[in-house]
Amino acid sequence: MAEGRFTNPVTATLAGVKDFFARQELASKLSDEDRADGLTILITGANSGLGFALAVAFAKRGGKVIMAGRSKIPEAGERVKKKAASEKVEMRYLDLCNIGSVHKFVQSLVRDGIMIDICILNAATALPGSRMTGAGQDEMFQVNYLSNVLLTQLLLKKSLLKLQDSADHSEILFISSDSHQGASYIDYDEFGQYFDYGVSKAISNYSYFKLLLNTYATELSRRINHLSVKLGVNLICPGPVHSNIVKEAPWLLRMILKGIFWMVFKSPAKAARPVVYMALSPDYAGTTNEYLHMFNPKKMDPKVYESQEGKKLWSRSMELLKKIDPEYEAYLG
Ligand SMILES: NC(=O)c1ccc[n+]([C@@H]2O[C@H](COP(=O)([O-])OP(=O)(O)OC[C@H]3O[C@@H](n4cnc5c(N)ncnc54)[C@H](OP(=O)(O)O)[C@@H]3O)[C@@H](O)[C@H]2O)c1
Repeated sequence: MAEGRFTNPVTATLAGVKDFFARQELASKLSDEDRADGLTILITGANSGLGFALAVAFAKRGGKVIMAGRSKIPEAGERVKKKAASEKVEMRYLDLCNIGSVHKFVQSLVRDGIMIDICILNAATALPGSRMTGAGQDEMFQVNYLSNVLLTQLLLKKSLLKLQDSADHSEILFISSDSHQGASYIDYDEFGQYFDYGVSKAISNYSYFKLLLNTYATELSRRINHLSVKLGVNLICPGPVHSNIVKEAPWLLRMILKGIFWMVFKSPAKAARPVVYMALSPDYAGTTNEYLHMFNPKKMDPKVYESQEGKKLWSRSMELLKKIDPEYEAYLG
């Protein structure tokens, strides 16, 4: 059975508290000169937490921001415009639980002729247990992993990302979690299968699905960049963020976790800084498959780099999409 690093919410939160006090090597390197003028930045899950703070940060630095989300439209966008004193902000509907919504979202970008310079795959959910989506999948698996595969495949197939050999090619930044370290090997018997589970397995799955995400991102980088870097595919864990990530936890647990978050976790604005740094700093221009844990360059779990595992996960993900996505020909055909 697939296992993540934690099964207990308090242990998982204490690991975040430890991160809060960790030294951050490159923290002083984000500069006001790291600008986003002329760039279009797509951020998923941008109505809340880290995604919202990223939208404000990129808009303040001159970028055009596309906030993708399923709620708080248009209020969150209006708040970002106000906070950043920028009109170059728009919101678009995207529900990652719904395969059709991902297709519609990409079609709207194509229709409006939008090219993306920086794509930040930030949206994720932490549920207290299993829940089935319309596609018969586990919701956390679909939102945190499979929809990111679908979205990246569509963006590439529709040529909405710039693949170039020059320095101004596009970048995809996967928002991950260092909790993926220590998750078990990928269990292909469970892959794409729905089954009931409760809180412990949900916490374990959250980090396990980040292992899937990192393994996919690494394989994507390998496939696109096998001769030279054509598309930056980098990953980052923002560290502990005082966000809405535990909003679906049972009431008492949510109160306890929210208290810890409030006392010691970083504000979303602070947590956004290393993400902005990785996306805009010349230090990371032209790089791929790099990983930052906050401002610390680090290696991911060794399993993430195993090319056989990457290939297998890729083909199993495509097979699953072919099975559950009536429009799979849009990218696999
Ligand atoms: N918080 C932490 O301590 C921490 C630590 C490490 C990594 N991270 C990562 O940081 C990222 C941002 O999380 P956060 O902490 O800022 O949490 P958050 O405030 O809960 O933000 C998560 C975002 O994802 C969106 N989302 C969830 N399900 C979705 C769906 N079906 N379709 C579209 N959007 C959906 C949420 O939208 P709704 O508001 O509509 O639900 C929200 O905008 C995640 O990838 C998370 O894994 C967080």
